[in-house]
Amino acid sequence: MSFWTALLDEADQGRTLYLVATFIVSVALVRALARERAARFKSLLFLTMVHLVCLVVAAAQRALGSELYPDFRVPGLVAGGVAFVGIAAALLFNVLLPRVRLEVPRILQDVMVAIASLIAGVTVASRSGVNLSGLIATSAVFTAILGFSLQDVISNVAGGLALQLDNSIEVGDWVKVNDINGRVTEIRWRYTAIETRNWETVLIPNSQVMKSQVLVLGRRQGKPQLLRRWVFFNVDGRFQPSDVIECVTNAVRGAKVDRVAADPQPNCVLMDLGESFGRYAVRYWLTDLAVDDPTDSEIRNVIYFALQRANMKLSMPAHAIFLTEESADRAASKTQAQMQRRVHVLEGLDLFAALSKEEREALANGLRYTPFTHGEVITRQGAEAHWLYIVEDGQVSVRVSDQGIEKQVAVLTAPAFFGEMSLMTGEPRSATVVAITDAECFRLDKATFKEVLTHRPALAEHIASVLVRRRAELLAVREGLDHEASMRRMAGSERDLLNRIRSFFALN
Ligand code: CMP
Repeated sequence: MSFWTALLDEADQGRTLYLVATFIVSVALVRALARERAARFKSLLFLTMVHLVCLVVAAAQRALGSELYPDFRVPGLVAGGVAFVGIAAALLFNVLLPRVRLEVPRILQDVMVAIASLIAGVTVASRSGVNLSGLIATSAVFTAILGFSLQDVISNVAGGLALQLDNSIEVGDWVKVNDINGRVTEIRWRYTAIETRNWETVLIPNSQVMKSQVLVLGRRQGKPQLLRRWVFFNVDGRFQPSDVIECVTNAVRGAKVDRVAADPQPNCVLMDLGESFGRYAVRYWLTDLAVDDPTDSEIRNVIYFALQRANMKLSMPAHAIFLTEESADRAASKTQAQMQRRVHVLEGLDLFAALSKEEREALANGLRYTPFTHGEVITRQGAEAHWLYIVEDGQVSVRVSDQGIEKQVAVLTAPAFFGEMSLMTGEPRSATVVAITDAECFRLDKATFKEVLTHRPALAEHIASVLVRRRAELLAVREGLDHEASMRRMAGSERDLLNRIRSFFALN
């Protein structure tokens, strides 16, 4: 028999043409429709190649008339059969079922393919004359080895199936197994893959996952996925814990930090009293478990700024000795530098342009340094007013909310002032002001401002005109009016406002 006749005969028996054609069509289909799954074809390509190589060798053996050992026919046919099953499964699970929105868990796919491949392999082999049952029954050693080696595989498969079927862990869950912390990306027949935040993937055998204590992070029955985080900090023991807690709680609740749940609200607790410091923790609920450290960092930033504003010091190590000679000269030069900074910011504002140098210095004396970090609410619409704010550096956003919808009215860039409306008229705050960037601010209390107004009643006129303009802008945003219409509505109100300011501050 010639080689070619033998090859055609073998190919015919092995349905090689169908196999190769199906393989090519499937690869094309999967590449076009489910590109991300195309990698699965590597093993199928390997099986198809094994089939082809065995086929050629078997044909050569027949052409040579040799009954040489080993026999390449049966392995070739088995490889072909298993490849057919694999291709059919790839089409079914990757192309057909996804089209009808049916996703079979990966582990079930693996198990089904493994069983179908086993059946196909055994059927093909036994049809080709191999007596498998006899082989297995007569070989006690083979059976023992098989049983022994399958022990692990079976417990892994059973473990994987159990994990998926009882939904104890699902792909996408954040888990902690032993000291591995990460997101479950796959549950395969042998292992569960966990992707850590450091971009490592840890493969844990399913049997081990079943035996270990697994912490599913942020999961509570019937509740959204939220994880409580603790951010610790120490404050100098000379500050009252109640003041620290109030200051930090208000700051973290007021700040708009991404990924921090609004409900439950963040809070601050005193964890311990050390020798020279109080140990505190801010507890907040994280909505995106992938971004834990950066969110902690944002919270620390808010804490830092809140403490700075309140003039509360983070704790120093108790053993540190600070030797600073607080001489009268040094104290005077520090005060001088601070004064200059304040006077400089007042000079930058139109509002105080008319003041004399002495008046500006008197005013600068009453300013209190109050920095804010980005996202913090500086003052809230509807609140009672105590301060006028001056922005030395940074940007703030003025927002009004009407029936629950918040709209931006203006962005103030340093040097600027706000908070004059309520301070002048005694009305509640007309808008919420939020720091867009970190904002270096000073604030001025009502009493000091009154003193300045009493000396310079003309200031009230300037303020009244700013007030009218800002009110018109507020009206425009609140009621959807255009600039002209809102200005018309405000026409004539400047005098009225001026009178109100004068009577509120008892100016004559
Ligand atoms: P007050 O009402 O005390 O508190 C909110 C502050 O936002 C308000 O004073 C103004 O200083 C400021 N504000 C309101 N509307 C505007 C506006 N249109 N442009 C700039 N600032 C404004």
